Amino acid sequence: MKVKGWFSDNIKKNRRIYAAVFAVLLLALFGLVLFYNEMGKRTFIVKGTMEGTERSMMRITYERSKEWSEHSTAGFDKGMEYDFDVTNDGAGDIYDWQAEIIFTSDYAIDSSWNGSFEKAEHKLVVRPDEENSEIPAGSKRTFGLVMISLEEQSVGEYRLYYKEDFTVTDTPFFWGLVAAIIITFSVFCTDELNHHRYRRLRERQEEIQAILVESYTTFANIIDAKDPYTQGHSLRVAEYARLIAGRMGYDENERERVYWIAMLHDIGKIGITDTILQKPGQLDNSEYSTIQTHVDIGGEILKDFKALPGIEDGARYHHERWDGKGYSSHLTGKDIPEIARIICVADSFDAMTSPRVYRKALPVDFAREELVKCSGTQFDPDIVSVMLALIDDEEVPVEIEA
Ligand SMILES: [Fe+2]
Repeated sequence: MKVKGWFSDNIKKNRRIYAAVFAVLLLALFGLVLFYNEMGKRTFIVKGTMEGTERSMMRITYERSKEWSEHSTAGFDKGMEYDFDVTNDGAGDIYDWQAEIIFTSDYAIDSSWNGSFEKAEHKLVVRPDEENSEIPAGSKRTFGLVMISLEEQSVGEYRLYYKEDFTVTDTPFFWGLVAAIIITFSVFCTDELNHHRYRRLRERQEEIQAILVESYTTFANIIDAKDPYTQGHSLRVAEYARLIAGRMGYDENERERVYWIAMLHDIGKIGITDTILQKPGQLDNSEYSTIQTHVDIGGEILKDFKALPGIEDGARYHHERWDGKGYSSHLTGKDIPEIARIICVADSFDAMTSPRVYRKALPVDFAREELVKCSGTQFDPDIVSVMLALIDDEEVPVEIEA
């Protein structure tokens, strides 16, 4: 009896699904790391004016804190002090920043602080000194200068260049993906472990099944050894019973059960003396009565055999008749267990279509007529109908080597 398990059948499909999920998650993680690495190298630019910027998270603002007039050798000059703020309101720290500020007219730098200043006509390029080069999220850095100009000065456009600290472990996506990979791996391991356990269980079940089948076969061999003239009878009856059960809608496990019960239906013959069992001629009344006791002997032998439900009924009641004239319990109709009614039809059909010591095998047509005649008296009419259909479909009789 083959036992199939959905789990084992699905394990290869499950493994493919896990492999696909792993691949997608790992690719996503790899992609995220690459993206963050690439973004960390990138230089961002914010262009703006002092009135507003296109990206308000990073911005430069200023204050002209002082202005004065002074005379110099060059003539009337204007002095101005500017204080600038670079503000980082973004989520990440920025570093390696550089500011470019365009003034409206030419000027000269008198003094400056918090960075290196480089002037190119109207443009001022500011690079922070070492301690100002990093601006943590939510903070600002300042720089400033004093300039001398020939005319009124104001700040026009500016550009802020910077790099942002993209650390992949700072993003919740990274930890979400890591968690998904760990969870998928855990589920995969559990699945594999369950599969392993299930397979061992199934192997054990198959071993037990094999032991049972070998036991049944051994019992059947004992019966055949006891009654060599009917060798192969048990096998054929078992096969017919299984075919009948199949047509009656029994599932595969049930058909197997019916097969083995039918195989052992005559086990009680072990208790009948060989002189009667192997007598070549007709039996007298006393001998016939003795032979009839094989049903109760069989029932007693099998009554403690719980592995195969119904096996006792098969042996004890297979000579009961639908009309109550059978032996030995004289049950009628559906009081006779169904397994026994099935075996009764299978047993009688094989008895007719197999050779006996005292006669040749009877033709199938004859056996078919006998089933029809005895339907409702000896046999359950429903089971006879099933057997007739099997005969008409030429599924029976079967050729079985003993
Ligand atoms: Fe029998």
